Amino acid sequence: MTAVLSSSAPETSLDADAGATTRTPALAVAFRSLRRTFGTGAAAHTVLRDVDFEIRAGEVLAILGTSGCGKSTLLRATAGLDSPTAGSVDIDGTPVQGIDSRCAFAFQEPRLLPWHTLQANIAIGLPTGISARDGKAKVGRLLELVGLTDFAKHRPREISGGMAQRASLARALARNPGVLLLDEPFGALDALTRIKMQDLLLDIHRAEPTTVLLVTHDVDEALQLADRIIILGKEANAGEGAAPGATIVRTVHVPGGRPRDRGSVELARMRASLLETLGVDSR
Ligand SMILES: Nc1ncnc2c1ncn2[C@@H]1O[C@H](COP(=O)(O)OP(=O)(O)O)[C@@H](O)[C@H]1O
Ligand SMILES: [Mg+2]
Repeated sequence: MTAVLSSSAPETSLDADAGATTRTPALAVAFRSLRRTFGTGAAAHTVLRDVDFEIRAGEVLAILGTSGCGKSTLLRATAGLDSPTAGSVDIDGTPVQGIDSRCAFAFQEPRLLPWHTLQANIAIGLPTGISARDGKAKVGRLLELVGLTDFAKHRPREISGGMAQRASLARALARNPGVLLLDEPFGALDALTRIKMQDLLLDIHRAEPTTVLLVTHDVDEALQLADRIIILGKEANAGEGAAPGATIVRTVHVPGGRPRDRGSVELARMRASLLETLGVDSR
């Protein structure tokens, strides 16, 4: 890792060639009859059941649902950090079995190493086997993409929360992930920084059009960023005898190219409808 950025590494400019060899692919994801039960016997607790869904390569999918309904569990299963009790997650037609190097994760907390510079933190995400030249070019390109070129040598304690989250996104992208998993990535940021980060994510997706699964509790964020939105929850009128656990209770296609007009009447209508499904009265 550090070798990639050591002073002995050959100096290279950000040439297009190096960028092309490290371009991010986009991979399709499919949830197939996925179920996750924690514990056994009387302590068994089914969190997710009958999750069937296909996400196109390059699509941005937002996942909404009340706290504790299984959103993070679904992302963890996609990355192979957790195994479903039944069913599978397929990426590019191949089942996920164990930690999957086709995925990269970014969380609400940036999780940067405090003793490393930002460029070294981003380099940690580089795939193994990448040449020093390509690695350096990739880190340089990502620093530029997230607007941190002037802060490459700074340490995490010297930058703001928004900047740290930008570095965290760059580190996730350094891996060239076919699937980018974002678990409430902007949840800890103030409202203005959050909007800027949403715009940045759109820029990132244009430059690195990978498949994105975005967990968020912010309906506006989902409407701003996603091609489609799924809501995880308990089925309405499920009754006493119904199977426990959350499933996909609603799928919404969000029309219009991005960036979208935040004041649009159509989005406001969709917002009210999504909040209603989530059990929140928007008035
Ligand atoms: N490793 C685990 N062992 C037992 N229960 C778990 C584990 N991981 C998650 N859960 C439970 O699964 C449910 C869903 O958790 P999570 O996916 O984190 O929800 P969300 O991200 O939607 O808030 C919660 O009730 C949580 O307690
Ligand atoms: Mg969660």
